[in-house]
Amino acid sequence: MKILVVGGGAREHTLIWKLAQSPRTTQLFAAPGNAGTARIAKNLDIKDTDVNSLGEAVKSESIELVVVGPEAPLAVGVVDHFQALGVPVFGPTRQATEIESSKVFSKELMQKHGIPCAESVAFSDYAEAKRYVEQQTPPIVIKADGLASGKGVVVADSVTQAVETLSQFMEEKSLGASGDRVIIEEHLSGRETSAFVFTDGQTVLPLAYACDYKRVFDSDQGPNTGGMGSYSPPPFLTPELAKTVQETIMRPAVAAMTEEGRPYRGVLYGGLMITSEGLKVIEFNARMGDPEAQVVLPLLKTDLVEIILAVINGNLEQVKIELYEDACVGVAMAPGGYPGSYQTGYPITGLDELDEGVVVFHAGTKLAVDGQVLTSGGRTLTVVAKGKTTAQARKKVYDNISRIHFKDCHYRKDIALIRGGS
Ligand code: AMP
Ligand code: GLY
Repeated sequence: MKILVVGGGAREHTLIWKLAQSPRTTQLFAAPGNAGTARIAKNLDIKDTDVNSLGEAVKSESIELVVVGPEAPLAVGVVDHFQALGVPVFGPTRQATEIESSKVFSKELMQKHGIPCAESVAFSDYAEAKRYVEQQTPPIVIKADGLASGKGVVVADSVTQAVETLSQFMEEKSLGASGDRVIIEEHLSGRETSAFVFTDGQTVLPLAYACDYKRVFDSDQGPNTGGMGSYSPPPFLTPELAKTVQETIMRPAVAAMTEEGRPYRGVLYGGLMITSEGLKVIEFNARMGDPEAQVVLPLLKTDLVEIILAVINGNLEQVKIELYEDACVGVAMAPGGYPGSYQTGYPITGLDELDEGVVVFHAGTKLAVDGQVLTSGGRTLTVVAKGKTTAQARKKVYDNISRIHFKDCHYRKDIALIRGGS
């Protein structure tokens, strides 16, 4: 099969790396891809949300299966477009993606169907939202309704900060239309973890659990990022807890989407908080996590093409998901200044000096004409290794990551050390 992966981050490089291992794969394409995907796939110079150009490329390259990585193309309806063209495509439709792309929809879904989540109120009027937060006790959690690349959630430590955030989102439109509506919700505390399942809208098969480290610096200091590292499996995720996650959250969410007339097919990502009052959903995402995919897919033994086709064809009940009994750790390398502004175009060295079994998934990289790999974006690389234990996997990553270098690069030194993510 000729397969196209839409997207160009480290999650998409990992998807391509895994799909390349399938006996059913004959050729891989990435749109737009990066310097890492260029080694195993043909990169197509097309933006991941450019639905029409993607459709034309699929026709001209005779591509037989499309796999969508990031949320932005899902939210603009890439899946609907390929379905209309009769091309097999993996991912939820635009309407089903609203479980991630509209926090108001997602909350209403959870409240209506009894899925445990933080108490919340939605507002589309700034004055009303302001009046409400003035009566709350900090910390106050404010969430923009729409997609915001990780910038749409603020945990305000004071009423003043909460009002400022509302003003930025709703009056100054700092996130564009994504901030037209907001949700103000109860602050949850506890251990955070993410659950990933495959579903065809009926059958729900657990893939894995992982923890993500969102703050840019060690010990959870500095601003939030897309995620600076991850590991799987979390040691505190006992079989009993996993059963509760599936029975009270993941399966009810899939059933709720079907009931609402928005059948969900693809990977569903549950962002969870294990609180003293039990499990609660922080958010749902309509895709694999990044950097979680980089540590989850290397643990998957089953052929990914087989799973994807079963999801598309609605016969996932015939698939058995098998995992390696290893642990996997991934650490992201970012340019100086990230997640704020940073320079790009620096050569990356050391990529060919790594121990066997260490894999580097690219995100913000591109190839120069002479074949040199150059930096081109934030969270430039994710360095990944497996081990019999998390400690072994962790040691392997850190023994190798210091051999890779680009100007002003930085990475967290404590990934998979503080158990439970952040
Ligand atoms: P989200 O984009 O919804 O995943 O939120 C980003 C991060 O904000 C989460 O990973 C949590 O660490 C934090 N967060 C979101 N909602 C809450 C909440 N209700 N209580 C505490 N922390 C939260
Ligand atoms: N790592 C967080 C996310 O993918 O949304």
